[in-house]
Amino acid sequence: MLSRISRAASRGPSSKVSHTVTGYRSRRGIVQPSGADRASVVDLPSTYKDESHFTPRADMLGFKLGMPQREESLKEKVRPIYLDMQATTPVDPRVLDAMLPYLTDQYGNPHSRTHAYGWEAEQAVEDARKHVADLIAADPKEIIFTSGATETNNMAIKGVARFHKEKKKHVITTQTEHKCVLDSCRKLGEEGFDITYLPVQTNGVISLEELEAAIRPDTSLVSIMTVNNETGVIQPIKEIGALLRKHRGIYFHTDAAQAVGKIPVDVNEMNVDIMSISGHKLYGPKGVGVAYVRRRPRVRLEPILNGGGQERGLRSGTLPTALAVGIGEAARIAKKEMAVSTVSSFVLDDDYARSPFHASCYPSDLPFIQLSSGNDFRAGRDRAHVDALSKRLIEGINANVEHVVRNGDVAGYPGCINLSFSYVEGESLLMALKDIALSSGSACTSASLEPSYVLRALGAAEDMAHSSLRFGLGRFTTEAEVDFVIQQIVRTVHRLREMSPLWEMVQEGIDINSIDWSQSHN
Ligand SMILES: Cc1ncc(COP(=O)(O)O)c(C=O)c1O
Repeated sequence: MLSRISRAASRGPSSKVSHTVTGYRSRRGIVQPSGADRASVVDLPSTYKDESHFTPRADMLGFKLGMPQREESLKEKVRPIYLDMQATTPVDPRVLDAMLPYLTDQYGNPHSRTHAYGWEAEQAVEDARKHVADLIAADPKEIIFTSGATETNNMAIKGVARFHKEKKKHVITTQTEHKCVLDSCRKLGEEGFDITYLPVQTNGVISLEELEAAIRPDTSLVSIMTVNNETGVIQPIKEIGALLRKHRGIYFHTDAAQAVGKIPVDVNEMNVDIMSISGHKLYGPKGVGVAYVRRRPRVRLEPILNGGGQERGLRSGTLPTALAVGIGEAARIAKKEMAVSTVSSFVLDDDYARSPFHASCYPSDLPFIQLSSGNDFRAGRDRAHVDALSKRLIEGINANVEHVVRNGDVAGYPGCINLSFSYVEGESLLMALKDIALSSGSACTSASLEPSYVLRALGAAEDMAHSSLRFGLGRFTTEAEVDFVIQQIVRTVHRLREMSPLWEMVQEGIDINSIDWSQSHN
């Protein structure tokens, strides 16, 4: 219990003073930082290690906090605001519309060749294949349907490495990949392959020099994700692709689950050989994904699933027609949403007439568009929408809360903002924000809260990784939701900091980093 702390502190490079803090005195109201004192959200990560010991924990707060309980939350009519778009996106109602016939009337097996039920299902699957191909500038023949990005990542990494194992035993990836990539590589390691896990720089981006230095004559595969799911960091995929093209016989795989449908992706421009895509990250259904597998030059890989030889023999099993249609429609809509870059080029068509977007979903700087039906919409521009909301969120927090660090490159995908709040205990922060569905930088394991390995790879101190929150914005996030979130964050961070003796010291101008904590005693 932190009732009394004595420690030597320093107010400057030379002046050591003694200082005693008793209990959780709060002598300030809400602190409104001003001017140069305010740390911006682009501060470098703190290296200070001990502050989490001096920030109040849930049982010390003096007011009731509680993690939203599953049963309680399920019973409640009002659900939290959803800002967890990297975990999953809601299905766009237009996607659901497209899928429904294949869950009801049109139930044929797309591999049945002898009757109309099969032909109509096959046609729907082929149309979907074309929509996905169009979104990434591929040939439809290069699109293989899978159950999601986890399966595609497994298939790409294990499949390529195992196919070439007689001659090549080396795979390169990065330390910040999704768990399913790291685990596929770990499995290969157990089978006798050598894996290089490239580090990332403090902004989360890999160094091309380090990548080139890691390449060996027996390297068969490089797997580097396009957009990171925790930080939104975008890797230089085009430059990596160009570099790898210079080395014959190395395949380039990218996990683009968080990129496709969010940022422009062109497999030829990027020189990518295999790409992983997930339906439920681009407003499509869960349980379906895609492997883009280049045909020229042909990528050779050992399939994980054997059987009927569907999908060029790379992924046996009956295709789920409705799910394939779902990811296809999601891709078609995403391409349109991205293509419309100015309101003047906005074309009113049936898609937009069926769009669920309501005017209130869109930032006020986009003009209304009057449809002949009498409904009015704002331009359906995913990126402009997410950009505007992202800017609003960052500015709103930055204007009212100091000592906030943005984790990862500021030029990352704006719909994924990862912030750490100094002098706040991460668990308390997340518990107090139960009106918002967010992810934190701590992954719950059975016994402890482990800080995120992705943030640690960026060099974030343990406590800063613990106090991080990921804000995931998307197509259906509204301005009003963002404003509510800003208000909640500002209120909660201030409230928690008011109870922190460490924060009090910071307010008094004490240089926390210069404190000699070894002299502390309770
Ligand atoms: C970067 C990344 N890769 C892979 C996956 C796994 O995708 P799926 O849920 O389609 O298996 C995810 C989803 O969390 C992800 O964010």
